[in-house]
Amino acid sequence: MLEIEQKYANIDPVDLRSRLARLGAGPEVVHVEVDHYFNAADRDFARTGEAFRLRRIGSKNYFTYKGAKQPGTLKVRLESEIALPDGDEAAAQHAEMLRMLGFRAVAVVRKRRASFPLSYQGTEVTVCLDEVEGLGTFAEVEVLAEQDQAGEAGAVLTRLAGDLGLTHVEPGSYLGLVLALQARTTRRESVLVTTTDELRSARAEARRKRLSIGFVPTMGALHRGHRSLIEAARSECDFVVVSIFVNPTQFAPHEDLSRYPRPFDDDVRLCREAGVDLIFHPAPEVIYPGGYRTFVEVTGLQDEWEGASRPGHFRGVATVVLKLSNLVQPDRVYLGQKDVQQVRIVQQLVRDLAVPVEVVVRPTVREPDGLALSSRNRYLDSEQRTKAVCVHRALTAAAERFTQGETDPATLRRVMADHIAATPGAVLDYAAVVSGDTFAVPERVQSGAILALAVTIGTTRLIDNLVL
Ligand code: PAF
Repeated sequence: MLEIEQKYANIDPVDLRSRLARLGAGPEVVHVEVDHYFNAADRDFARTGEAFRLRRIGSKNYFTYKGAKQPGTLKVRLESEIALPDGDEAAAQHAEMLRMLGFRAVAVVRKRRASFPLSYQGTEVTVCLDEVEGLGTFAEVEVLAEQDQAGEAGAVLTRLAGDLGLTHVEPGSYLGLVLALQARTTRRESVLVTTTDELRSARAEARRKRLSIGFVPTMGALHRGHRSLIEAARSECDFVVVSIFVNPTQFAPHEDLSRYPRPFDDDVRLCREAGVDLIFHPAPEVIYPGGYRTFVEVTGLQDEWEGASRPGHFRGVATVVLKLSNLVQPDRVYLGQKDVQQVRIVQQLVRDLAVPVEVVVRPTVREPDGLALSSRNRYLDSEQRTKAVCVHRALTAAAERFTQGETDPATLRRVMADHIAATPGAVLDYAAVVSGDTFAVPERVQSGAILALAVTIGTTRLIDNLVL
């Protein structure tokens, strides 16, 4: 059986009840549901979209499994529920059994649910008015249907929502909303470590507790872009590690390593607010002790574009990302799309050297005018800051041309270059139109190709990109 449902926020319960009465809904049935959600040992339900819970309604107990949401706007998923023996002891025994099997308790969702059975346009539906602890009031319209009736049942639900005045769709599950709330409100005591021994023992302790580990490597000077990576790690992993290390080996000889911003106290504050568990802040000699000799190169991807402007840069990035990953041993490493060539190189490195980590790439975070957030933006004075928007505008102008049918890489490159040339004080380093896989210029541009720009304004070098 499929469960087809839609959740709505911003509910006016009085209005909803009167509309339900007008549609002839049955008398409301009220009960308190306490849902104990678990995550599996062999896969992460946060990623697969599945859910498993022990539901308690008074003394009644149920196990419910929900499959991943099927594509589409309505929530359509496989649901299977079985009744367990009644009582507190049975609930505790079943929860304990799950823990013994490696399942982890992730959150408890408590709600007062008023259900209204309704026969609407020939379909039996249920409308629920839920007061969810910590979250507020929501309405859910739901129907159970076989796969071949799912389309029609979904259409009925959408019409019913219109008749009930439900307009504000809430796409998240209660579990997801509760977890997000917990992440926002739990102030964690982020532990700061500087040595590899301290890092290893903290990591071993997390592993002993069977926590999944998310890792966000940074060079500090943290901003909302980093914060979005940390938040993604926080919502998908049990234990979040952030490294703050200005990596000397990724600075080209002409670049000023000593000028790189190091607002360490602000960085620690951001980590604490964002719920980081462990901050690793090693000194350069911890990562590169005397006699250090090993470097990693991802040939064929490292020498063009950023690599050409910053010789040796990606060798330093690949080396430090691998070393940090070896030390942290995370399940997932989080990188920002803004450094698209770096992302591609790390993905290749992970694949080629069979590094047991999943690379999670998060979208670029932008200012309202489109400027990509970067630690280097702080160097721009106000006039330069105004001009800096030309980078994003040049990218979107070329993307627009692609949408209109232009597939010649040289033409798209010229659109970007002309845009930058028209901004006094902006100096183009490179405008690239490349394949997302090889980073080579394709003969004809296709979806998935990358537009990338590096532009210097004053003394500040800005990079940005768009995936077509
Ligand atoms: O993107 C960065 O900040 C750095 O290149 C990284 C990945 C932290 C490696 O030093």
